[in-house]
Amino acid sequence: MFNPYEIRNDFPVLNRIVRGRKLIYLDNAATSQKPKQVVAAIARYYLWHNANVHRGLHTLSQEASQLYEEAHDAVAKFINARSWEEVIFTYNVTEAINLVSFTWGLPNVNPGDEIVVTVMEHHSNMLPWRKLAKIKGAKIVYVDITNGGELTFDEFEKVINRRTKVVAVTLMSNVLGTITVDVVKKVSKLAHEYGAIVVADGAQYVPHAPTDVRDLGVDFLGFSGHKMLGPMGIGVLWGRKEILEELEPFKSGGDTIKDVTLDDVVWHDLPWRFEAGTPNVAGAVGLKAAVEYLTRLGMDSVREHERELVKYTFKRFNEELGDEIEVYGPKDPEQRGGVIAFNVKGLNHHTVGMALDMFGIAVRTGMHCAHPLHYRLGLKGTVRASYYIYNIKEEVDELVQALKTITMLKDKLQTGEVDERVCTGT
Ligand SMILES: Cc1ncc(COP(=O)(O)O)c(C=O)c1O
Repeated sequence: MFNPYEIRNDFPVLNRIVRGRKLIYLDNAATSQKPKQVVAAIARYYLWHNANVHRGLHTLSQEASQLYEEAHDAVAKFINARSWEEVIFTYNVTEAINLVSFTWGLPNVNPGDEIVVTVMEHHSNMLPWRKLAKIKGAKIVYVDITNGGELTFDEFEKVINRRTKVVAVTLMSNVLGTITVDVVKKVSKLAHEYGAIVVADGAQYVPHAPTDVRDLGVDFLGFSGHKMLGPMGIGVLWGRKEILEELEPFKSGGDTIKDVTLDDVVWHDLPWRFEAGTPNVAGAVGLKAAVEYLTRLGMDSVREHERELVKYTFKRFNEELGDEIEVYGPKDPEQRGGVIAFNVKGLNHHTVGMALDMFGIAVRTGMHCAHPLHYRLGLKGTVRASYYIYNIKEEVDELVQALKTITMLKDKLQTGEVDERVCTGT
């Protein structure tokens, strides 16, 4: 097990004073902070190796190309892909899913076909499928959650049939924290029996738990580098080689081809066929450093650390806040990751978020790009605290203490009488 107190030294931002207090960063589901090692790798690349890739015979271009290819390889190993050729760098997970919906969806989905999507999806794994369905005259079929915020295999079994072409499912909810991996494994088997593909959104899972694409059994998996210590602007689409090889590029242009005549084009090998134009080499280098950082910690330990923080949060919420607070999603920390959405009874989520900021605590408020899920739960929004490797129990204590103060000031907060000085005690 790693020592989170030591890890914090790698993240200078955690020493920032916000609103007169030491920053407590609990918005990791939106984006994680970046360790010095990742920033240094990016700086090293730009200061010593910068050149365009795959286009030059000169030394710098070869170095940049090698670094870029090594990044694919590092990511492939991180998710236990069969080959680095199955790893396509995208802008983010949103682009990764759009890539699949266009390149696989357009030629394979036809009028009357069905696309299965869960109500728990982030918009990024829902809207691309709705767009595809609209273009192709296909139907979206939704899978509901239980009242406890979980997905069950039974619900998928009811809707997957010979008309199903795609099943789009998250590995972990960015609101409820629900981990769905066991269900997704079974769903993959069932979907394949009917010739459908399974597209998994790993945005919240891959950064926080060991991921093995072969064991998952899905056909595509997307995730974003910026949620796993990497820089913004680099994401990953992993896909089965045999499927990717059949597809045409998403965007075409430089680097996607082997040859072009005025009448014809021969597409490039994997993964270059899907990486049009000058890529984000520095982003890839940063992502490789991030993956190495996480691998050094051990993804089992990352998962364990967050499970402990969730357990501790639930305990402290119960002890200190009782009925004042409503927490959503599975109650069992084994079934969920380090994302905790809640509301303070009688207070708007944005009010709570702004009040927490006065304590130097960064959380996310709103519907977290999952509006249908919030409507399903009958909620106008939630406050979301989300953890990562550098969060510590003392920060949970601070969160609980701040929430206690907020509940005590509820009347004043409701009428807008509280200002910054009240919450910071100055
Ligand atoms: C589950 C899930 N899917 C997709 C996304 C979209 O990520 P990005 O904006 O990096 O494409 C997010 C981001 O919050 C997410 O939590």
